[in-house]
Amino acid sequence: MTDSRIASLQQACPGLKLKTDPADLEHYGRDWTRRWTPAPLAIALPATVEEVQAVMRWSAGEGVAVVPSGGRTGLSGGAVAANGELVLSLERMNKALAYDAVDRTLVVQAGMPLEAVHNAALDHGLIYPVDFAARGSCTIGGNIATNAGGIRVIRYGNTREWIAGLKVVTASGELLELNKGLIKNSSGYDFRQLLIGSEGTLGVIVEATVKLTDPPPASNVMLLALPSFEVLMQVFAAFRARLQLQAFEFFTDRALEHVLAHGAQAPFDEVHPYYVVTEFAAGDDAQEAAAMAAFEDCMGNGWVSDGVISASDAQAAQLWRLREGITESLARYKPYKNDVSVRISAMPAFLAETQALIGQAYPHFDVVWFGHIGDGNLHINVLKPDDTSDADFVAQCEHVTKLLAQVLARFDGSISAEHGIGLVKKGYLDSTRGPAEIALMKAVKRAFDPQARLNPGKLFDV
Ligand code: FAD
Ligand code: MLT
Ligand code: ZN
Repeated sequence: MTDSRIASLQQACPGLKLKTDPADLEHYGRDWTRRWTPAPLAIALPATVEEVQAVMRWSAGEGVAVVPSGGRTGLSGGAVAANGELVLSLERMNKALAYDAVDRTLVVQAGMPLEAVHNAALDHGLIYPVDFAARGSCTIGGNIATNAGGIRVIRYGNTREWIAGLKVVTASGELLELNKGLIKNSSGYDFRQLLIGSEGTLGVIVEATVKLTDPPPASNVMLLALPSFEVLMQVFAAFRARLQLQAFEFFTDRALEHVLAHGAQAPFDEVHPYYVVTEFAAGDDAQEAAAMAAFEDCMGNGWVSDGVISASDAQAAQLWRLREGITESLARYKPYKNDVSVRISAMPAFLAETQALIGQAYPHFDVVWFGHIGDGNLHINVLKPDDTSDADFVAQCEHVTKLLAQVLARFDGSISAEHGIGLVKKGYLDSTRGPAEIALMKAVKRAFDPQARLNPGKLFDV
C-alpha cells in the first residue's frame, strides 16, 4: 500500500525529490517538541511551485494528508507527522527571488531561513526586523504560518506586520496570489492575513513578499538585576517612558543557571532572582542620558539591584546570549512549555496570580520563567525530572495547564502568544477563542480544505 502510493506520487510528479529512509522519516517527522513519535509516509522536497501544486493534486486524488514543513523549530507540534502523512518540506525552495528598491520589498521562497532573509535585506542596506534565536534554522514560511513574534515585537510587531503578499498553494492545488505587495487594498476579505498564523491548515505558503525597513540607529543593550517579580512592570514603565525600546525581555535566576551551565559568562558577581535584557536607541547624548536616568530612577526606588550596559557589539552579543541561549540550554529536559499572553495593563495582576498557581502546582518541579515581558508574553517552562516518565510528566503538566487556561480566560489572555496551537495546546483553544469563533474557524477550514488533508489534527479537530 505504502509503496504504491509513493510510486503514484513519483508518477504524478516525475522530477519530485522524495526521501523514504527511516532516518529521514524520523528527522522530518518531528519538530522541537520531541513528544510524538514520527511516522510519516514519505518526505517530498519540491523545488518549484508547480511541484507543490502537483503534490497537492496527488494528495487530493489519493486522499493522503500533507504536513507543510519548514525548519521544524516549532514548539507546538505543528510540523509533527505521526500518522502516515506526507511531509511537504519547503527546504529546497530557499532563495530570494526579487528586490524592489522603490517598494522596499523582497520576494522570497518560503523555505528561506530567517537569517538568510536578514542577510538579503542587509545586502540592500535595509533590515527585515522579525528576529529570534532560531533564526539560523527556522524558515520564513514557518514564521508566517505561526505568525512568529520574537525579541523585537515591542518595536516592530509580529510577522503579520511585515508581509505584503503571499503565494499559496491550496489543498486542491490551485495557486492563490494574495495582496500582491499592495499597501492599500480594500477589496474584501484579506486571505493573506488569514493565512498568516494558520499553521499549515489552510494552504502551503510557497512565496512571500516581505517588507523591509531602515536599520535602527545605534543601540545599547543593558542587563538589569531585579530583586523581585513585583517590580518587573515598574522597571518596564520607567524605561519605556524615557527610551525608544527595541526589546524588553526577562528571565529568572533558574534560567540563568541553565544558560551558564551551557557555557555563557556570568554577568554579575552576585546571584539575583530576576533579570531583564533591554535594548534601546542610543544614537546621541540625550538618549544615553535618558538611559542613565531610567536606570538611576529604578535603583533609587529599589526596583533594580545592579546593571551593566554594553560597551561594544561583542558585549551586547554576550548579554543577549544570556536570554537567547535559554531554550537550547533547557532542551535536554524536554520542557513542557507554556507560551501565554495578556494585555500589558493586566500583567501585574496576572503575574501575581500565575506565580501563586505555579508555585503551588509544581513545588517539586524545576520551573523556568522567561519571556517577552514588554509584549505581555510569558514563557513558563516546566522541566521533566529524570525520574518521571514522559507520560506522567505530561499528564501532571496538562492538569496545571487547565488551571492556567482558566486564569487566562478570566484575564482575556491567550494560551498561545507566538508559538501556535499545533498539537500541544489544541485542548485549550477554547480558553482563548469563544464557541462561535471556533465554529467559524472550523467553517473556514472546511471551505479551504473540505477533505481535511492539510495538517489534520493541528489547531483543532474538524
Ligand atoms: P516549522 O516548525 O517547520 O512549522 C511550524 C508550523 O508552520 C507547522 O504547523 C507547519 O505545518 C507550518 N508551516 C511551515 N512551513 C509552512 C509553509 N511553507 N506553508 C504553510 N505552513 C507551513 N517562536 C517565536 O514566535 N518567537 C521566538 O522568540 C521563538 N524563539 C525560538 C527559539 C528557539 C531556540 C526555537 C527552537 C524556537 C523558537 N521559536 C520562536 C519557535 C519557532 O522557531 C517558530 O515558531 C518558527 O516560526 C517556526 O518556523 P519553522 O520554519 O521552523 O516552522
Ligand atoms: C523564546 O522566547 O526564547 C522562544 O519563544 C523560545 C522558547 O519559548 O523556548
Ligand atoms: Zn518567545
